[in-house]
Amino acid sequence: MASTADTELKARHRKMWASGDYPSMVETFLLPLGPKLVEACGIGSGMRVLDVAAGTGNASIPAAKAGADVTASDLTPELFDAGRRRAEAEGVTLQWVEADAENLPFEDESYDVVMSSIGAMFAPRHQDVADELVRVCRPGGTIGMLNWTPEGMIGALFRTMGPFAPPPPPGAQPPPLWGGEDHVKELFGDRVDLRTLDREMLEITAFENPRDYGEHFKERYGPTIVAQNNARNNGMEEEFNKALDDFCEEWNLGTDDKARFEQEYLVVVGTRK
Ligand SMILES: C[S@@+](CC[C@H](N)C(=O)[O-])C[C@H]1O[C@@H](n2cnc3c(N)ncnc32)[C@H](O)[C@@H]1O
Repeated sequence: MASTADTELKARHRKMWASGDYPSMVETFLLPLGPKLVEACGIGSGMRVLDVAAGTGNASIPAAKAGADVTASDLTPELFDAGRRRAEAEGVTLQWVEADAENLPFEDESYDVVMSSIGAMFAPRHQDVADELVRVCRPGGTIGMLNWTPEGMIGALFRTMGPFAPPPPPGAQPPPLWGGEDHVKELFGDRVDLRTLDREMLEITAFENPRDYGEHFKERYGPTIVAQNNARNNGMEEEFNKALDDFCEEWNLGTDDKARFEQEYLVVVGTRK
């Protein structure tokens, strides 16, 4: 049974991810991740697939297009409408289920593939999430994740925003830890035979001026909106804006009028023993 504090925390997280416009971020630069995870997991026709923290179905929809029977689950059902619209446009049907990755409402060993694309990493208790991913996957089934790395651009973004954000709740672990190989090995222990732990890059060329990247996040990305609101409440908004501008300039690999970024992520694929 979830405690009151946990229920309140998850309600805050849900509100955060429902704020801004996460669906438009997926359409602008995150779309390549879904098919990448589906391919890494070897998803094919007839497989029962659970996508945890599925958002708008970035991985669920290509999995359904590959012929799998897909459940897209997420803490934030506000994101499902955009997902349903995209699924319909792509000609596939899936189940959309509200679910906390730390306490999944699914039977033991009920899926052939359990996956999460830059999603389950955002639940605060990493061991609880790993335990749930293992629990609902059948023995011999596949567990797959894409996780932003601590050393990569999103790891650095969270470090940049950290001093401005509200303090994390007790016991919460930083999301980018999930992008470290040793952390993943420790969380799954001897229950998963990890066959892939590879670092890859998502290239982003959707922005002209490098600072447009930061503006995009300020308008659309829940964690950035929360950090900016907190900075504003503490009289630190100017410092926050400067830190984000500097961050964009620092990570730009392109020119001043044609930005290019690379976001590193860890591809995790293993067999549930
Ligand atoms: C960066 S988005 C990723 C969404 C999608 N998988 C994708 O690839 O676009 C992070 C997602 O994690 C979800 N999330 C955060 N905490 C969660 C939790 N405790 N349980 C389930 N989902 C959670 C958010 O609602 C959000 O949809």
